[in-house]
Amino acid sequence: MANKQKTVYICSECGSETPNWAGKCPSCGAWNTLAELRLDKAGGRARDPGRTPKAKKLADLDSAEEIRFSTGISEFDRVLGGGAVCGSLVLVGGAPGIGKSTLLLQMCAASGRERRILYVSGEESERQLKLRADRLGVYGGELYVLAETDLDSILAAAESLKPDIVIIDSIQTVSNGDLSSAPGSITQVRECTMRIMRLCKENSLTTFVVGHINKEGSIAGPKVLEHMVDCVLYFEGERSTSFRILRAAKNRFGSTNEIGVFEMADNGLRCVENPSEMLLSGRPVNSPGTCVACVIEGTRPILAEVQALVTPAAYNAARRSNGVDYNRAAMLLAVLEKRGGLSVAGCDSYINVIGGLTLEEPAADLATSLAIASSYLDRPLGADLAAIGEIGLSGEIRSVSALNQRLSEISRLGFKRCVIPAHWRDEIRPIAGLQLLPAQNISEAIAAVLARE
Ligand code: TYD
Ligand code: MG
Repeated sequence: MANKQKTVYICSECGSETPNWAGKCPSCGAWNTLAELRLDKAGGRARDPGRTPKAKKLADLDSAEEIRFSTGISEFDRVLGGGAVCGSLVLVGGAPGIGKSTLLLQMCAASGRERRILYVSGEESERQLKLRADRLGVYGGELYVLAETDLDSILAAAESLKPDIVIIDSIQTVSNGDLSSAPGSITQVRECTMRIMRLCKENSLTTFVVGHINKEGSIAGPKVLEHMVDCVLYFEGERSTSFRILRAAKNRFGSTNEIGVFEMADNGLRCVENPSEMLLSGRPVNSPGTCVACVIEGTRPILAEVQALVTPAAYNAARRSNGVDYNRAAMLLAVLEKRGGLSVAGCDSYINVIGGLTLEEPAADLATSLAIASSYLDRPLGADLAAIGEIGLSGEIRSVSALNQRLSEISRLGFKRCVIPAHWRDEIRPIAGLQLLPAQNISEAIAAVLARE
């Protein structure tokens, strides 16, 4: 039988396969996302006829907890759900220069003493790795480095060395010589991840794979990559600041809403145990347009400063929001216009969350709205004030979860007053030194904290 070459097209957005090329993905409707994938070796799907896979009875399987080990970096462990799970495949994505290689090399410092690690780099030479390791103070005894990009050589090295942990930096530089497409293409990334995953699962290796992200901010390559691996972590932050956040987008062994907070220093990444303190440092005192919000990230309450600048529009009203969802910000502006009595619709509005943090929780609505109102009215809110509450379309302030936990963090950081929803779900435990200002709706909140004396 002739070795027929089969071609399929994969959508880089949703990962669906189609036999024919089209400008628009038939499955998710995205434009220009189909890329060609050649399945050279008879599709690579032939099965050995002598081997019939045997299903196992669920009741007979060992249900002992998954075995975890500490990466030696407390914030990294936290995001992974309490340490790395043995035999799992973790994808670490992030923009270039954000610190992915640094994070993984620092992990080697702690884990290299007890475990054998193979660090494969397709981006740096062995000497460069050594220089970086010296700078980070990594003297791992059982740490092996390999500067290689050929997939077969990498797999062969891993099989002969028999490490406990393999790090591939990065998946976009690895290529399989059997495929005609260039390294980093969808075909290569998919095939290489699949082969690495097989190696990882067959030998119970814990594998960390670095993935570059594309313009849209997701890992370059097909979405199927994310379906294949056990954990997908994103390393975020602005290059101009030293603040970095590690976030789980997928985790088969833990929650995905836990974040890890780091600071990039001269000698590598440092865990930030108290993110609120760091996020609030250098806050302007008595200037209009800033308010402190409290959001729950995973199990931790984190305080963040929301800044707003509202100016009369010279031309068409412009809106920019950084760290707050654009549509959410537009909604809050509309509510302020209609229910708060502020004519913000015709103004240029800029919203920014300090430290590169993204506030996804609606509990930050009230702080965002008060920051906007404060800038519009050009009156400061006072440095001792924080605000918690979700805002509804009729301007009402709605209750949020974990109110007591948020209030104790606010009090711990020295705030004296906090605007809260007038109706709350949990019973509030009063905290000495923290004055609560319950408000029913946005105009009550504005009147309570921004009224002219
Ligand atoms: P790197 O880990 O190489 O990023 P990635 O692998 O995500 O591309 O980090 C590179 C950046 O980190 C570089 O701009 C310099 C900075 N850096 C420090 O500030 N301190 C350090 O100790 C190290 C190793 C890097
Ligand atoms: Mg790197």
